Amino acid sequence: MNRTKIAGIGMYVPENVVTNDDLTKIMDTSDAWIQERTGIRERRYAKRFEDTTTTMGVEAAKIAMENAGVKTADIDFIIFATLSPDYYFPGCGVLLQRMMGMKEIGALDIRNQCSGFIYALSVADQFIKTGMYKNILLVAAETHSYGLDFTTRGRNVSVIFGDGAGAVVLQPTTKDDQGILSTHLHSDGDSAELLSMPNPGFHAGRFWKEKKPATPSQLYGGLFITPDLIKEEDIYPYMDGQAVFKKAVIKFPEVINEALNANHLKASDIRLLIPHQANLRISQFVQQQMHLREDQVYNNIQKYGNTTAASVPIALYEAWKDRKVKEGDLICLAAFGSGFTWASALLKW
Ligand code: UT7
Repeated sequence: MNRTKIAGIGMYVPENVVTNDDLTKIMDTSDAWIQERTGIRERRYAKRFEDTTTTMGVEAAKIAMENAGVKTADIDFIIFATLSPDYYFPGCGVLLQRMMGMKEIGALDIRNQCSGFIYALSVADQFIKTGMYKNILLVAAETHSYGLDFTTRGRNVSVIFGDGAGAVVLQPTTKDDQGILSTHLHSDGDSAELLSMPNPGFHAGRFWKEKKPATPSQLYGGLFITPDLIKEEDIYPYMDGQAVFKKAVIKFPEVINEALNANHLKASDIRLLIPHQANLRISQFVQQQMHLREDQVYNNIQKYGNTTAASVPIALYEAWKDRKVKEGDLICLAAFGSGFTWASALLKW
């Protein structure tokens, strides 16, 4: 059976740089707090009414396709991972298909937030290994800045997130020492609401969990956002940061070890770990737990903040561009986030 290789990679971030000091002008926060707790110095925000999740994804895709040496007509399947789509529906996959003038190929949207890229990679891997597709375009992009609460009330969430896109072209390879070795996917819906944006939504899950009947207005309040049914803060993402942090530092090492064990490899074999860029403190904790050297873990959250699904391909692109990833290197990708969902992938570049 074929293996799946990353034949080309690309990224795009908007030009607009927003520093921590810029944020202090609109909310009660400080550069010191943000850097100390997250490592973030600045992030990029999309240009209003110009950049969207799809347009940024298209820019990243063009670079990935150029690096892979493929044309639009060669792509036979699209996968788009995002939590911040242009429309509630349809998804960004079809918008990208239209914008790039692609053939009437399949377009799949993945809704797995921070682990979206690795989930998407796993799906693509199955299609390539079975021979169904030969050139899959996988795009992961986010436009967080349009939907964050920029008042002091929302500061624990809004200072973290940034906008951007990453993309890869996936192809089959017959080389033994190249390609995806394995992917590992997990979820625990028990904590779904701890990092969530329930609106627009039906809210039935929450009432089911609390085992109490919901009134029709509670159920419909999310789906049809009307001022009389919903409070202003209900339209923004919610995060219990400490709870997410505590779970992340357990699940990252667990899912990385799972991948290593499945392939009879050790942490010292990893040339580069690319963790989802959630928080520099989480990455540093994982590095210590896994007994990895600093040069074995790639971080660029300092420049871009947390770009959710896009963070792994953006970091992988920069690592590759900086020549930190070379042919034959063992790369580990890992992510944890909303859902909760978490995932890892091991691949030989
Ligand atoms: O990618 C998705 C997965 N997400 C994550 O992995 C995020 C995981 N969690 C985290 O990264 C951290 O929990 C945060 C960075 C979000 C928050 O850091 P924390 O150390 O957990 O802070 P906290 O939420 O416990 O808040 C501590 C204090 C509070 O003030 P009091 O109650 O102690 O007076 C907050 O109100 O810091 C305050 N605070 C802020 N102060 C200045 C919260 N956000 C800010 C802010 N600026 N932006």
